[in-house]
Amino acid sequence: MRNLMPSWLRIPVVFFIIIALVEYFVSSGEKPAFMEQPIVLVFLLLVLLVLIAMEAIISSMDAILYQSLDEEGKARYDAQKARTPKFITWIKTTYKKLLGSKPLEEEHEIILDHNYDGIKELDNNLPPWWLYGFYASIVFAAIYLLRYHIFNGDNQYKELEIEYAEAKIAIEAYKKTAKDLVDFNTVELLTDASDLGSGKKIFEANCVACHMSDGGGGIGPNLTDEYWILGGGIKNVFKTISEGGRDGKGMIAWKQQLKPSQMAQVASYLLQFQGTTPAKPKAAEGEIWIDPNSEVVTEEVNEAVTDSTQIQ
Ligand code: HEC
Repeated sequence: MRNLMPSWLRIPVVFFIIIALVEYFVSSGEKPAFMEQPIVLVFLLLVLLVLIAMEAIISSMDAILYQSLDEEGKARYDAQKARTPKFITWIKTTYKKLLGSKPLEEEHEIILDHNYDGIKELDNNLPPWWLYGFYASIVFAAIYLLRYHIFNGDNQYKELEIEYAEAKIAIEAYKKTAKDLVDFNTVELLTDASDLGSGKKIFEANCVACHMSDGGGGIGPNLTDEYWILGGGIKNVFKTISEGGRDGKGMIAWKQQLKPSQMAQVASYLLQFQGTTPAKPKAAEGEIWIDPNSEVVTEEVNEAVTDSTQIQ
């Protein structure tokens, strides 16, 4: 390596490799690591200094060693240094081969007869680099034609659709494992017996003191009727449990004590009280809650549509 690259090239190359490694391994979000964490900058600076120092030490040791050699040794050393490394020779010959041009001395073999006011033309072969590229493009075209036009491979739109579908499945799977990701915007009524069972346990451990075990109400309002102070339906109920009731009423925000998944379970459980008759029902409070997604509303919309046609 030392003989391959001069030091002015070696230091930056090694330095940038280290920067790339740092960027890769230090998690810094969108911004580069050295901007996010200035200490990284200090580290990189130190690395740079060490690299330069190493180069300086090695080359001075080299010089000292060289001075200590006898004449014959010096000559051998110089010869060794002057030798071009193998792979550089390889690059040079491959480059020449790919160019495919004749050396100047042999040009007389391929010169054409005509002569335009002293301008002559050589009958060079097509340069191999170009020719191989051309063959590669023919092979590519054949494969492309077969794949997309004969065997109807997926085009970009179809690939995008497939990826979307896969992503959707992945998101669903993730949501199942990450039940605590729900909030009052995304929560949905749970119907699994196990969820409702856990909901019941949570309700009995935390809520019965004020809402009674049958939801009939006490300090807290009746949960069995269709009247809701803070809105019915899973989303509102989840929100009430999570954020609490109106100030000073006694219903605390449970999000400190219950996980989102637990709040979804208890909300789903207590919505089962709807329509049941508790032992000692508390008088209704709040207003009748109509689910905006229920049929009642759609019927109204339909009526409105019929009405408007009647007017015409
Ligand atoms: C200290 C008594 C108390 C406890 C314990 C309590 N609540 Fe409440 N809860 C209330 C009161 C009081 C209200 C009325 C809040 C208001 O008027 O703003 C209420 C309101 C509610 C409402 C909204 C009712 C409506 O009509 O909009 C829901 C849902 C509810 N509680 C669920 C729960 C759940 C679930 C628990 C247990 C995790 C719980 N509560 C624990 C006192 C309590």
